Amino acid sequence: MTAFHIPPPWRLPEREATAEDVYLNRRQVLRALGLGTLALSVPQLACARQSDGRSAAAPAADEAAMVKPALGSSYADRFPAPRNPAYALGDDRTVTPEALSARYNNFYEFTTTKQKVWELAQGYAVEPWTVEVRGLVKKPRTLDLDDLLGRFPLEERLYRFRCVERWAAQMPWTGYPLRLLIDYLEPLSSARYVRFVTALDRDGMPGIKEQPWYPWPYFEGLRLDEARHELALVVVGSYGHALPMQHGAPWRVIVPWKYGYKSPKSIAAIEFTKKRPGTFWNQLQPREYGFYSNVDPRKPHPRWSQRWETDIGTQKTRETLLYNGYAEQVADLYSGDEV
Ligand code: MTE
Repeated sequence: MTAFHIPPPWRLPEREATAEDVYLNRRQVLRALGLGTLALSVPQLACARQSDGRSAAAPAADEAAMVKPALGSSYADRFPAPRNPAYALGDDRTVTPEALSARYNNFYEFTTTKQKVWELAQGYAVEPWTVEVRGLVKKPRTLDLDDLLGRFPLEERLYRFRCVERWAAQMPWTGYPLRLLIDYLEPLSSARYVRFVTALDRDGMPGIKEQPWYPWPYFEGLRLDEARHELALVVVGSYGHALPMQHGAPWRVIVPWKYGYKSPKSIAAIEFTKKRPGTFWNQLQPREYGFYSNVDPRKPHPRWSQRWETDIGTQKTRETLLYNGYAEQVADLYSGDEV
């Protein structure tokens, strides 16, 4: 199969590119905050149009369902975790309302329509969940939910998030440094990379059957020193509770200085390798998606400048920051030539 048969993520209907459902959701949020009339007078809201058949005034119950943790009440006592103040957003950014970030997702295993991921992913069973650990590791084994959610202290961090599609958000993630998990797994000294593989469930994840041209399961990889960086996070929760399915329950990895596709969801296998592993998007379109994929305003995507980004919360456009604003922490990892 050649890459030409693949409908790539940038070929979005215009309604998705302008994220009008985000406006609709924003309308609900503003109304709930009592800011409705004033805030609704801004022009972008005035031209908001329904695109997915849902009522603009969706009932609150709908929203509660949208953010429901996939784990139900299991591990609920581990949330909310204390916030680590070392990870702040900076004065110019605010946390994206959960009603927006939980309804604007990329999770192709369910669908490529961002606004519909949460509905299609709802009720997906994540208990029991196992993670196969393989490759260059002292002891290949299988992890369970207790290993993932019960072994390490949890903390909350506010992170910037940047998708290659040029939208951005700021989210409170709950988890622990990926380094802790890696050290616990004891990779061999010959291991130089870590590879993550998402669950492959053809019956439970409708997007897999609907898009057979993709090389399922989704897979991603990091150099081991990147994965051990203090910013690389195992994420088991968002907004003070366990992850809802659309964000990649029961666990995912977040690498905030890279484009969002480097942050795989619902991981079912971890592999340690000597050779650099392939990645889902790099395998499909190597000229467009590099292995490193660090956020970099100076390196345009072949069809888009990456100089600007739009915040899905405020709808404001701002300049993209090198390494998504984390240059001080991560620049030492790179020579600058990585793609
Ligand atoms: N992981 C899997 N398994 N499948 C996906 O389609 N999409 C990636 C990434 N991880 C994706 C994935 C992309 S392109 C982005 S931008 C982020 O998840 C989106 O994360 P969010 O929906 O939680 O904001």
